Amino acid sequence: MKYARLGVNIDHVATLRQQRGEMYPDVVRAADVALATGAHQITIHLREDRRHIQDRDVPAVHDMCKKIGLPMNLELGCHDEIVEIAMREKPEWVCLVPEKREERTTEGGLDVMDQKNYQRVKSACERILKASPSTKISLFVEANADVLKKCLTMKAHAVEIHTGEYAKDFLTKKDLSKHLKEYREGASIIKSAGWGYHAGHGLTYESLEPLLSEGLFEEYNIGHWIIAESVFLGLGHVIKEMLTLMKKYPLKA
Ligand code: PXP
Repeated sequence: MKYARLGVNIDHVATLRQQRGEMYPDVVRAADVALATGAHQITIHLREDRRHIQDRDVPAVHDMCKKIGLPMNLELGCHDEIVEIAMREKPEWVCLVPEKREERTTEGGLDVMDQKNYQRVKSACERILKASPSTKISLFVEANADVLKKCLTMKAHAVEIHTGEYAKDFLTKKDLSKHLKEYREGASIIKSAGWGYHAGHGLTYESLEPLLSEGLFEEYNIGHWIIAESVFLGLGHVIKEMLTLMKKYPLKA
């Protein structure tokens, strides 16, 4: 039987690190733990404003992935400077995303229906593939039939469907049928072209399950919730270890 792949997005390990300008938590260690546990790939987003992942993290995380023999998926906006980093690093996967400086996280998919944007995305694909023919490219887009058909006119290998609105509707208990219908229609457009059909953004254990039961997406990239939930799964353990250390040293009279 075949199952969907999990790409673990470790951006928010870097967010914690950057918050204090410390050397910890270490993103390479996070990549190691994720891959050693069975994750199928590591996803990182090198944003133009460098708010979490830093330039030095890109080769460091990539080296860890290469050591374990699993892919790194580098998310990036179509800015020349960032595209050039991808051209040099030659990751196994690149995911092209829209990026606005003022946004909190990636909001919505690429607007490939706008001719200027379309040209920017198309040119980024061509430049990356020229520098690194073995890199595969996914386009982060909404599950809209016209958008998906437009994507197929570019030199890429997959789309990653933006599940942000679906995830919000799930949390607020809204009807999900319109999203699921779009995802099914999207699957037939994309899969009949032989492209990969990926998904990501805002997903949790609970909101992932209806998507898994549809069995449409071959890959999910999930970050924020995994890192958030890990705090609770690890917090008690770390406090216990700290207390064990403290109990080794009684106070002096
Ligand atoms: N996929 C893409 C293209 C993204 O931009 C992000 C957020 O960086 C994710 C997946 C992961 O989203 P989340 O952190 O909400 O799980």
